Amino acid sequence: MKFKAIKSFRDDSGKRFSRVVELGVDELAEGEVVIRSRFAAVNYKDARAVTGAGNVIKQFPCIPGIEVSGEVESSSDARFKPGDWVTVQGGRAFGISRDGAYSEYVRAPADSVYPVAEGFDAFSVVALGIAAYTSAVAVEALEHHGLRPDQGEVIVTGATGGCSSFAISMLAGLGFSVVGMTGKSSETGYLESIGCARVVGRDVQAQFTRPLDEQLWAGCIDAVGGAPLDFVLRTMKQRGIVAAFGNAAGETFTTSIYPFILRSVTLAGVNANHPVGARGSAWTRMGAGGNLRPQALERIVHRISFDELPAHCEALISGGVRGRAVVCF
Ligand SMILES: NC(=O)c1ccc[n+]([C@@H]2O[C@H](COP(=O)([O-])OP(=O)(O)OC[C@H]3O[C@@H](n4cnc5c(N)ncnc54)[C@H](OP(=O)(O)O)[C@@H]3O)[C@@H](O)[C@H]2O)c1
Repeated sequence: MKFKAIKSFRDDSGKRFSRVVELGVDELAEGEVVIRSRFAAVNYKDARAVTGAGNVIKQFPCIPGIEVSGEVESSSDARFKPGDWVTVQGGRAFGISRDGAYSEYVRAPADSVYPVAEGFDAFSVVALGIAAYTSAVAVEALEHHGLRPDQGEVIVTGATGGCSSFAISMLAGLGFSVVGMTGKSSETGYLESIGCARVVGRDVQAQFTRPLDEQLWAGCIDAVGGAPLDFVLRTMKQRGIVAAFGNAAGETFTTSIYPFILRSVTLAGVNANHPVGARGSAWTRMGAGGNLRPQALERIVHRISFDELPAHCEALISGGVRGRAVVCF
């Protein structure tokens, strides 16, 4: 039986590229569990892998895609049987140093396969996936710091992105007044529909240039790093908290010590690269009925076909899409 997959290659000159290939199960990386793919997510990282724009793939050739769900086709491990609904996501190998999600059939080591747990189904486990989990970990960082809705507005940068859209919906659901910062003024209606009380453009940064400027935000979830993170730090309120997890605007940023020593601002880093089995409360609170389940899930997520995936990755890299795409096989 032959099926379609996207495979990433690196040529002799070091150029990275991907193309659609036809494969058999025996040509996939080894593993005990064969899964008939149903849904796969498209993260910023996946788009960088498919387009070759980023140094994501660590072993070529490789099928990219770091999150999939589907039905077990066969398993040589007793924990799984044909017909079980499962997901593979998180960790440092799947879709990076071994074949991943963008394939009609996936073969994975049993230890990296998780049943679709109560509160999730095959679609929502991937639609939420790493993006919503990352946002949930960031929200928990704000909660652990003691941030409450009555302390002021919370700004979310890269607002129309997948992770940020979930963060907005979660924070709004918890009663916070959320400000979305975006480069896409045309998406103001979308951002208000998923929970923003108001929306500011990225160009707002030009109005606040002093090392310590007006105190605007009690909290921040930052998905972009770079200059917007510097802006946010300079405009935080006393004892404000910033949870940062992304680099879409840049890997480095410039700041002064003043937000930290004169306003007691906290900068909390978020690494959410955890397998499903190690995700704890931030994951279970996103299950059906949980208080971190994004109420705007269906507005944030849109479905694309496998054939649309390469073009979608190009658009995502150029910053031209909103929300989160899920590939339906
Ligand atoms: N630490 C972790 O564990 C973890 C986990 C998941 C993701 N991440 C990171 O989180 C970030 C967001 O991931 P995602 O999947 O949500 O990506 P995404 O859907 O592509 O969203 C990124 C958003 O950032 C904004 N943006 C893009 N280019 C920008 C630029 N040059 N300057 C300022 N803003 C820019 C855009 O929003 P607007 O147009 O609305 O501004 C874009 O929609 C990525 O950097 C990703 O690597 C980290």
